Amino acid sequence: MLVKLTGISKEYDREVLKIDQLGLKKGLIYGIIGPSGAGKTTLLRIINLLTPPDSGTYYFHGLPLPVNGRELLKLQRKMALVFQKTLLLKDSVWNNIAYGLGARGYKRSEINEQVDKLLNQVGMEDLAARRADTLSGGEAQRVAIARAVAFDLELLLLDEPTANLDPANIELIEEMIIKLNRAKSITVVMVTHNVFQARRIADEVLFIDKGRIVEMGPAEKIFTDPENEKTRLYVEGRMIY
Ligand SMILES: Nc1ncnc2c1ncn2[C@@H]1O[C@H](COP(=O)(O)OP(=O)(O)OP(=O)(O)O)[C@@H](O)[C@H]1O
Ligand SMILES: [Mg+2]
Repeated sequence: MLVKLTGISKEYDREVLKIDQLGLKKGLIYGIIGPSGAGKTTLLRIINLLTPPDSGTYYFHGLPLPVNGRELLKLQRKMALVFQKTLLLKDSVWNNIAYGLGARGYKRSEINEQVDKLLNQVGMEDLAARRADTLSGGEAQRVAIARAVAFDLELLLLDEPTANLDPANIELIEEMIIKLNRAKSITVVMVTHNVFQARRIADEVLFIDKGRIVEMGPAEKIFTDPENEKTRLYVEGRMIY
């Protein structure tokens, strides 16, 4: 198990998340679906160690989180969260991807090799020299994902990465996510409002409502034969809220 959460809760003015158990296996793609305000982003932020939960335990590869700051930072560097809107540097696509590697002390030769390989892997060589502020929304999002996986990531978290994009770009990004998952064995957790998208790319789907995991299971099962009536209503687009 790559990540295991037990007894996680988070409260703001009210309880927004309460998760008894959640396990994420290495190399799988997880889709998180659920209504607005259900706690999806909060869960991603907790998994990404951006938001500390009020209670509960987080295990990474079976070990509780380190208390030592340096150890924790090392662990944080194995994961990345990509948002719906990303800020890129006003520089070339190539430099946007190289920048973080430089900041982490990679050697010039390693950076060159890594960036070229990655751009090639995701079919974005043509964009390498483009200034990031001239990219379309879909292209920018592809660069953001490429930048996130330039390191040896184990866990890629995506919060509605294709919201507001056209179908062609959505398809490119879905292909990219699947390719990265296969090529690098990266575990992917993607929040999406689009249940069809979850069905297309996820191995496992979590349906979250009111801060609880209502149901989690193989994508095909969640969409064709869910255990829970609420899940059924949601995936059939009939949930009233
Ligand atoms: N920093 C915060 N302070 C106060 N309340 C917050 C904070 N972050 C989230 N919340 C609340 O927690 C609840 C869950 O929010 P969250 O962003 O996780 O939902 P979501 O499922 O991602 O929704 P959406 O689909 O609209 O993005 C919401 O009621 C939200 O208002
Ligand atoms: Mg959200």
